[in-house]
Amino acid sequence: MNQPINGYIPKGDSKADWNNASAEYSEEDEKLTILGHPVMERWETPYMKELAAIATSNRGRVLEVGFGMGISASFVQSFPILEHTIIEANEGVFQRLLEFQKTATQKVTPLLGMWEEVVPTLPDGSFDGILYDTYPIAEEDLHTHQFRFLKHAYRLLKPDGIITYCNLTSWGNLKSQYPDDRKLFEQTQIPYLQKAQFSRFDMKIVRVDPPSDCQYYKFKTILAPIIQK
Ligand SMILES: C[S@@+](CC[C@H](N)C(=O)[O-])C[C@H]1O[C@@H](n2cnc3c(N)ncnc32)[C@H](O)[C@@H]1O
Repeated sequence: MNQPINGYIPKGDSKADWNNASAEYSEEDEKLTILGHPVMERWETPYMKELAAIATSNRGRVLEVGFGMGISASFVQSFPILEHTIIEANEGVFQRLLEFQKTATQKVTPLLGMWEEVVPTLPDGSFDGILYDTYPIAEEDLHTHQFRFLKHAYRLLKPDGIITYCNLTSWGNLKSQYPDDRKLFEQTQIPYLQKAQFSRFDMKIVRVDPPSDCQYYKFKTILAPIIQK
C-alpha cells in the first residue's frame, strides 16, 4: 500500500492496553477517545445510518464488530432483525453496550473481547449481515485490519449474506491519493476482497460534514461498501 499523505496515523501499538484503557466519551457525547486515539465522532451519524441499512438489508441475524458510541447499533435496531450480535474489545465501551442492551427492541447478544479471539468461536454461516467498524489499534494495521477480518467474514456469512465495513482512518489518508471514492474502492479495497473469496461488490457514496477539527477524516463524501457472499 502506498504511503499516506497528510492524514492521521495511529502511532505505535496499543493492542496490549486497549481492553482496559479508559473509554473517554466527551461530555456532550460528540466523541469517543481511547488512549488518545480519536476512535469515533458524532458527525459520522449519516454514514452509520447507511452502513446499518446495508448490513440489515437481508434482515435475520446481524453481526456488528465495534460498538463505539452505539450510533450504528441504534440504526441496526430500527430494522426488523432477529438478533443483533455485537463484539466489543474495550471494557468501558462494553459497559455502554450492556446499557444499550437493556433498552434495545430487538434481541442483542453482547460479546466482550477482541474480534480476533471471539470470531473463531462463532459457527460457519451464522449471519445474514455484518457491519465491521473497529479501529487500527496498531500503526501496522492502519490500512489492513479490515482485510484480516474479511477472510473470517466470508466463513461467518450465510450464502447471499451481506457485509459492509469502513476504515476511515485509512481512507482519510488514502483520499489524498484517490480523491474519487469509486477509484479508492476499486484500487485499494477490491483486490483484498477478492483475496477473501468475495466476488460481488458494489458501493454507495454518502455525504458527510466532518468538523474542521476532525483529525482522521476531512472530506465531504465516504464510500459505503456493499459486498455479498
Ligand atoms: C469506530 S468505533 C465504532 C463506532 C460505531 N460504529 C458507532 O456507530 O458508534 C470502533 C470500536 O471498535 C472497538 N474495537 C477496536 N478494535 C477492536 C477489536 N479488535 N475487536 C473488537 N472491538 C474492537 C473499539 O473499542 C471501538 O469501540
